[in-house]
Amino acid sequence: MKQAFDIQPANGKLGILIPGMGAVATTFIAGVFAVRRNLGKPIGSLTQMGTIRLGKRTEKRCPPIKDFVPLAELQDIEFGGWDIFEDNAFQAASNARVLQPELLEKIRPELESIRPMPAVFEQTFVKRLNGVNVKRGRNKMELAEQVRADIRSFKQSRNIQRVVMVWCGSTEIYIEHGAVHQSLDAFESGLVENHPDIAPSMIYAYAALKEGVPYANGAPNLTVDIPALQQLAKQNRVPVGGKDLKTGQTLMKTILAPGLKARMLGLSGWFSSNILGNRDGEVLDDPESFKSKEVSKLGVLDYILQPELYPDLYKDFYHKVRIHYYPPRGDNKEGWDNIDIFGWLGYPMEIKLDFLCRDSILAAPLVLDLALFMDLAARAGMSGIQEWLSFYFKTPMVGEGLYPEHDLFIQLKKLKNTLRHMQGEELITHLGLEYYDE
Ligand SMILES: NC(=O)c1ccc[n+]([C@@H]2O[C@H](COP(=O)([O-])OP(=O)(O)OC[C@H]3O[C@@H](n4cnc5c(N)ncnc54)[C@H](O)[C@@H]3O)[C@@H](O)[C@H]2O)c1
Repeated sequence: MKQAFDIQPANGKLGILIPGMGAVATTFIAGVFAVRRNLGKPIGSLTQMGTIRLGKRTEKRCPPIKDFVPLAELQDIEFGGWDIFEDNAFQAASNARVLQPELLEKIRPELESIRPMPAVFEQTFVKRLNGVNVKRGRNKMELAEQVRADIRSFKQSRNIQRVVMVWCGSTEIYIEHGAVHQSLDAFESGLVENHPDIAPSMIYAYAALKEGVPYANGAPNLTVDIPALQQLAKQNRVPVGGKDLKTGQTLMKTILAPGLKARMLGLSGWFSSNILGNRDGEVLDDPESFKSKEVSKLGVLDYILQPELYPDLYKDFYHKVRIHYYPPRGDNKEGWDNIDIFGWLGYPMEIKLDFLCRDSILAAPLVLDLALFMDLAARAGMSGIQEWLSFYFKTPMVGEGLYPEHDLFIQLKKLKNTLRHMQGEELITHLGLEYYDE
């Protein structure tokens, strides 16, 4: 079959620029260094560990994804980023206490060479933080120009061919769409006039899109969701994706809920509670930042269970999510779920889930995959919202008038079918009747 997209090869180096060099970012960066040196395996990464079935089951064609589509090699990645703290990636990774000190020592020189550039930051948006490594400018447009200059000099100084940006910064406070977000013109005027509803994350995203750099949003902030930046992404033909990495409790939810629904089991309540003690937990202890997270976490069950289609099973189920900051646990979060379900004739049952997870260990491979797939999308000439990457997000971005797909298994099918489509391979429908034809 004819290849559907003319994909440019992944020649030369790929730069990954990260606003927010905290636990997730440094676990990701250190992990890539460790894998390059054969000190560990990239577990959890679909691009590195996954395969893709092609054609009929009888053909037995199942190449690794990274051999099927042209992705950047781990050897060819360069890292850079911004943070409000001056710590280099070694110090930041040590402070995050996710990876063992012995491992970090082995890759210390590589990590120490990554020093965060001064950040665009406004404390109104992340109340619990305050740092000194911050840009100054007369207005937000000037700050955006400074980020654009950072991107260009990062590229030139290291002889990098292509760049992608993945937001791993703290969760900003919840804001609604306002007039300044509605069009690119209004947004650009707002940058010059220092409009208070333009968040720092939007300034990075604006700078990236102006430089033709794809932007993926790892946090629940409204960033590239606003019409102004979507317009810019389309105009400059740049891919965007978001938002909020799907790890931990929401990952479990989007694995379990489709299963309950597949068996037509009812749900009367789902209570989710978490304790975590890293800096993310501290930021989320602020009710305004938690609001962004809550909105992002609550949507998934409604979309998966479709109460309007199945009122007998899912009408009025009670759903609550809580996050508690508890310092002793550090990055090792514990998430409890109490799930009240009902079966045949309405008889009730309970499921208790206790996930002792490691937040950044689950998030790091997603950052890698997003960076590599966003770069692939750009080389394939795809632009705007990359819905096929919904697999990675708690609140997948979708085009106007569409609802997001949250079911992890449908998301995976969509992702793999998109890769098949890009390479001109037949899509897999799992019909399979042909195996039984006379
Ligand atoms: N770990 C997970 O499983 C997971 C899942 C989904 C989403 N997230 C999100 O990813 C983000 C990062 O999580 P983390 O655990 O690494 O948090 P973290 O607090 O360790 O790191 C965030 C970093 O961002 C920096 N920062 C804040 N505002 C900034 C700005 N404007 N510019 C540059 N740097 C800025 C902070 O100084 C900090 O170093 C959070 O928003 C979190 O909610 C994490």
